[in-house]
Parts: sequence; structure tokens; C-alpha cells
Amino acid sequence: MTTVLKLGGSVITEKDRPETVDRAALERAAAAVATIPDRVILVHGGGSFGHHHAATHGVSTTEGTRDDDAVRAIHGAMKRLNGIVVDALADAGVSAVPVHPFSAAHRRSNGSLQLETHPEAAMIGEGFVPVLHGDTVTHEGIGATIISGDELVVRLSAGLDADRVGVCSSVPGVYDADGNVLDRIESFEDVAGAVGESDATDVTGGMAGKVRELLSLDAPAYVFDIHGLESFAAGGDPGTKIG
Ligand code: IPE
Repeated sequence: MTTVLKLGGSVITEKDRPETVDRAALERAAAAVATIPDRVILVHGGGSFGHHHAATHGVSTTEGTRDDDAVRAIHGAMKRLNGIVVDALADAGVSAVPVHPFSAAHRRSNGSLQLETHPEAAMIGEGFVPVLHGDTVTHEGIGATIISGDELVVRLSAGLDADRVGVCSSVPGVYDADGNVLDRIESFEDVAGAVGESDATDVTGGMAGKVRELLSLDAPAYVFDIHGLESFAAGGDPGTKIG
């Protein structure tokens, strides 16, 4: 069994304070990850590390930059957060190893992501837990753009034939139009009105984009918050099941 899990940036950092980790949440998440019996690939988001620098330099998933200072600032901040996450996981007994997407991926000029997943397959085959992160990536024709953790989750899940996918975010699941968490989403048409038709206002995806992408996977995906993480780790069905 292979599980791909994203820890949202808003879960493990304090989003309003630049480069501030939410230590208690990170340690809770690391302890939960340590209980997952499957082979695990982790991805974490940017929170107050990546988004802050990306906004300062005007870089998004589609707005590129050729300013190498911007690339170093965004990538450097994400590497700092990745180091903190990897250390917390290691302290909890997880065989965590860092993987930096800037060095492992790029976008073609049409925006499509090129990411080799053989290294991660080899890592999990040897018992390591690769820990990737939202990052900046070289984007042919426009310099460098942002790659979100969600995009990595989808790509890794498909490329590594994941059996379960978890997205731990700041919300307990996908809400319906009345503000209730949906138990299950089987097609985008079921929820398009509730989650919004467009993800244009959220530079790295938004809930509509997330649901659409997760529906494209063969594996079931779950969207939940930190309170659902222990249940997900134990094989339960927290939050909203997608697919
Ligand atoms: C953003 O990744 C990465 C950068 C801004 C460099 P995500 O979009 O996955 O981050 P969160 O989970 O929303 O914070």
C-alpha cells in the first residue's frame, strides 16, 4: 500500500506571521504520520514561508519571473520549512528525507509539469519517506513559476500508483452550499456550485481546482483538517472522500 499525504501550509505554519511554524500542529502531524503502516510520500505546502515570498516577488503558478533573487528567496524559504518538517518527522521516528522540486521538475511553455517520479519510487522501495514541498520551478518561456503542493500530490499519486491520498488542510472537508461538510464527492457536477466554478482567485488552486484534480485519480482521496489526521493515518474516512 502506498499513501500520499499533503500537509497544508496553513496547518503547519502560522499563515499571518512570516516564516513562523505552528510547532504544536507540526508535532501532532509528525506523530500521526509515524503511525501510518503503508509506504508514505509526504508533500507540504508553503504557508507563511512560500506564499509570503511569492507575493513579494509577484510570482504565481502562471506569473513567471526571471529574477534569480526571487527564485532564491522563494526556494530558500521553502527549503527552510522543508528542513524543519523533515526534522520534526525524524524526531517522531519517520524515515523522512528531503526532495526539492526546483531541482527535480520544470514546466513546459504550455504550463504542463514535467516531474520524474522514479527517484521517489526508489526511495519508498528502500523504506525512506520522501518529503516534497510546494516550490518554484523553471517554466520554459517565462522564467520560473510556483508549483503547489496539491499539484505535486496529484502527480505523485498518479506516477506512484497510490492507494490512498490525503490532503490535510485548514478546513474539515469540502463544504456544500449550506456550509456542511460533504461525506463523499463522486463527480465534479455534484459540487460545482458549492465549491465555485472557477479557481481564478486562488493562485495555487482553491477548493474547486483541488476537487477536480483529486477526482482524476484512481485512488480515493480525502480532504480533512488536523483533527482528521489520526483517523486518516489509521485507515479511516475523515472529512470528505473524493472519488
Ligand atoms: C505553495 O504551495 C508553495 C509556494 C508558494 C512556494 P501550496 O499552495 O501547496 O501551499 P499551501 O498549502 O496553500 O500553503
